[in-house]
Amino acid sequence: MSRLDAVRYPALLAPFALGVHTLRNRIVHASMTTRLSVNRRVTDSLITYYANRARGGAALIVTEPVSAARFQLAPQKVRIWDEESEPGLARWAEAVEREDCRLLAQLQDPGRGRHERGRNPDAVGVSALPDDLSWTVPHVLSTAAVERLVAEFADSSRRLQRCGFSGVELSAAHGHLFHQFLSPWMNAREDRYGGDLDGRCRVLSELVAAIRGACGPRFIIGIKLPGDDGIEHSIGPPEAALIARQLTGSGDATGIRGVDYLCFAQGSHAESLDRHLPDLHGPRSPYRTLTRSLKQAVPGVPVMALGLITDPAEADGILASGGADLIGLGRPLVTDPAWGLKASQGREADIRYCVSCNSCWAAITEHRSIACDNNPRVGLVDEVDWWPGPARYAKRVVVVGTGIAGMEAAWVAAARGHEVIAFGAGAAPGGKTRLMTRLPGGEGLSSIYDYQALAAKKAGVRLEWGVRATPEDVRSLTPDSVIVATGAVMTWPRGFPDAWREEGLVPDLRACIAALLGFTQRQAGTAVLFDMDATEGTYASAELLRQLFDRVVIVTPRDRIAEDVPLVNRLGIVRRFAHQGIEVMTLGRIDVGSSLEDGVVQVGNVYTGMLTAVREVALLTYATPRAPDLSEIDGFAGGGDEIYVIGDAHAPGSTMAATAHGHRIGNLI
Ligand SMILES: Cc1cc2nc3c(=O)[nH]c(=O)nc-3n(C[C@H](O)[C@H](O)[C@H](O)COP(=O)(O)O)c2cc1C
Repeated sequence: MSRLDAVRYPALLAPFALGVHTLRNRIVHASMTTRLSVNRRVTDSLITYYANRARGGAALIVTEPVSAARFQLAPQKVRIWDEESEPGLARWAEAVEREDCRLLAQLQDPGRGRHERGRNPDAVGVSALPDDLSWTVPHVLSTAAVERLVAEFADSSRRLQRCGFSGVELSAAHGHLFHQFLSPWMNAREDRYGGDLDGRCRVLSELVAAIRGACGPRFIIGIKLPGDDGIEHSIGPPEAALIARQLTGSGDATGIRGVDYLCFAQGSHAESLDRHLPDLHGPRSPYRTLTRSLKQAVPGVPVMALGLITDPAEADGILASGGADLIGLGRPLVTDPAWGLKASQGREADIRYCVSCNSCWAAITEHRSIACDNNPRVGLVDEVDWWPGPARYAKRVVVVGTGIAGMEAAWVAAARGHEVIAFGAGAAPGGKTRLMTRLPGGEGLSSIYDYQALAAKKAGVRLEWGVRATPEDVRSLTPDSVIVATGAVMTWPRGFPDAWREEGLVPDLRACIAALLGFTQRQAGTAVLFDMDATEGTYASAELLRQLFDRVVIVTPRDRIAEDVPLVNRLGIVRRFAHQGIEVMTLGRIDVGSSLEDGVVQVGNVYTGMLTAVREVALLTYATPRAPDLSEIDGFAGGGDEIYVIGDAHAPGSTMAATAHGHRIGNLI
């Protein structure tokens, strides 16, 4: 990066002395599980994923957690404790380090922590106490087993160093094993690894000393700590400051020096899990103030800010104001590996921004490879600053529908040299996603269509707004290919009387929200939302309804809400519902005996039929599975040689499915 580049974000792009190393800037890739390894070994896809982020501008990369001790058997983690791992580790390190990016492996163990369904029978832990979320009770590590762990982690660190890694990050955050040692709520040990602060910090102090002893002063050692784990009697900000001081030796002559940086995260394997991946239901960079105060507790120790920092200006501001020394980026670098490169070139508008939806987290916790709503090319060889190459033959392509599937297909096809005309029924791109951006917490989603609109302009897409294109409109353009991206509509709930529809008494949630968005005046009475959708937008809509109505009741035939939402987001939803007083009636159906004219909705139990009346109902609305309007789609057949039906018009699904489908078809035609 040139001197001129450094002027743009002077703090973010300034070099930084970390240990004996000089980082080229302050951008750090935070540790994220990718599930790109196979059989516990490094793969080409894993190397490509990390090399892309190094090439894209990160100065320091912390890998996903690796298995550094023999008892660690997790199938998704790269095993580093045996000699056979060395060739893979060496290739991994070489691919990243040659981009002038230092590579640190994250060492940790989840301990009793688990955020998947069921309990973990392989869990080892600090004490025989249940995990706050999964209620897993771990097999307790004996004193000798802890000592063995320390020794094995040090040996594995030495192996990493031999293979070309610059260091390690010990994760003692997020409710993992070392967090469990630190926390008085989770650590009830009576040996020297429990008890007072000294005892609870001992395993980490010994690890730092052992790794430093094995790897020497050039090896970077960072620690990720809880800044506030959100659990009563555990680690709040005052305890976090004490731990940080203890581990870095600041103000304590007996403490062990040797930690090169600290990073503070939030939340735990508990009801507070959602706080480790903050979304836009709260403020941006929500841990900024806390990180600044914790930095003051450890003068002279480099501190990394982390958590919902998505924008280069925001990152630069945090550094410039002295709130941190480094900027950790997790999800933003999944979405755009070239985040740093584009920022340094003054191309902020070209960044595909993280929308904080946590689909990446959902992917890995559902045992899929990491994936992103706003990056259809995660981990591909050509991912960094991708722009398509030319198509073999230039065609005329008509796109009907400018939601996120249609827009993605349109810009990609145009960038490949096709002549693209896209019809949008509204006045702007985004379709139903645009509506979602106006709901509580939805604002970030605009980054998807904002990027697409900019790319479409650059690629020369002809956008025709306010046109609900007919088959004749399409045919008159004599296209070679037609892409139909007309979306889908909510189905009328089975069992609801037709008369309610005919009389317009019960609008679907989308229509209802579109009508209510302008309202600021409170509405008397209760809003009842019948939920057969279980996705994020439904619950954000409920929050909007709650801003307007005296009471909001969600009725679902399932035994709980938000089942199709990643657990981290679901915990946020139930937390907010509790605070806002949004009520949920599970195992319920709206009964035909309801008298809407009298403001009475009868909810029948799906098993017993037993009725419960909800009174003073001012609004009944529904969110149901969507279906495309096939008759409309059939009309477009014959418009061109090729017809592609994409996104919700093909199969109603997720945001990720829509962008991915549009991207694939844009590349195919
Ligand atoms: C998909 C995903 C996987 C993650 N896996 C880990 C992990 O294995 N270890 C860890 O310390 N943090 C993990 N994190 C947390 C991130 O390091 C980071 O603390 C968090 O994403 C907040 O930063 P962000 O707002 O920049 O994404 C993960 C986050 C995501 C999104």
